[in-house]
Amino acid sequence: MTKARIAILISGTGTNMAALLYAAKHPSCPYEIILVASNNSDAEGLKLAAAEGIATFAQPHQHLDRAVHDAMMHDRIVHAGATHVALAGYMRILSEAFVQKWEGRMLNVHPSLLPKYKGLHTHQRAIDAGDSHGGCSVHLVTAELDDGPVLGQMQVAILPGDTADTLAERVKLAEHQLYPRILAEYVSRDSDPAWLVQQVRERAMAQPEADEVTSHGMPCFGITGAKKFAYVSVDHHGDGKTALLVKISGAEEQAMLIDSDEDRYYRPAYFGDGWIGIRLDLGDTDWDHIGEWLAKSWLAVAPKKLTKLMDVAGEF
Ligand code: GAR
Repeated sequence: MTKARIAILISGTGTNMAALLYAAKHPSCPYEIILVASNNSDAEGLKLAAAEGIATFAQPHQHLDRAVHDAMMHDRIVHAGATHVALAGYMRILSEAFVQKWEGRMLNVHPSLLPKYKGLHTHQRAIDAGDSHGGCSVHLVTAELDDGPVLGQMQVAILPGDTADTLAERVKLAEHQLYPRILAEYVSRDSDPAWLVQQVRERAMAQPEADEVTSHGMPCFGITGAKKFAYVSVDHHGDGKTALLVKISGAEEQAMLIDSDEDRYYRPAYFGDGWIGIRLDLGDTDWDHIGEWLAKSWLAVAPKKLTKLMDVAGEF
């Protein structure tokens, strides 16, 4: 198993960092922690990380432009060879450029049941609102503060007499359970055939009159009553690979694609020159690109009456 390489960013105590770090010590964990970085040289968590043999790095942000500070952090994270960033009590608003560079590969833990209580003082706000539960969320980081897609949540009951501090303490216990699990799930999904098939399914079924059948044991997408335009090959003859097969123009395009990236593209056995195999399990699949492949493949097999209808619709 190739493990994801995680850089954790902290500003303070770093108990979530510790939870991630100790989860990563288990041999079955799909990630390893390769760097703990902070905007605060005195962050408690840095000492623990160093004692646990993890590379650490501190770059105070005072007197630095936000973009400059973020660029410095980014360089160190890239230099360490990180594949993902986990924010764990990193109390800095990130620049858009930094967020963009790590889009889809940066997670955060937030002490509320998002979309409730973005920002600060989450526990007091939950208590003041008379909520029965507080909790925590792990989400992908997007340009908007605490707004990215939620990957997982855990509720925490609010007890009579709870203060923001007592509730925060219990929410942290929940965070320490939730964050390592969600991060493990997230970094594993790129090699999880069921998740990969689902990604193809959503895009294939978005094509006009698409339907799904199983053909030779493979999920297969076609136009109702007409030809097939995509197959997903999962562990074909035990090859351990997950790949999308789509239509192309012929041998020349096939050879060109394989030549351009022979780890990703291949000639699918039994399908001939009119098809190309595209590996989906390499960890860096561009899903918009896969959507385009599917649309192109659909167009290659679509009966005239359907494409004509689309041309007419396109004119309006
Ligand atoms: C955690 O409760 C985390 O959810 C919160 O800071 C605490 C850090 O504790 N993060 C945020 O509020 C971010 N918006 P830790 O340093 O002990 O992990």
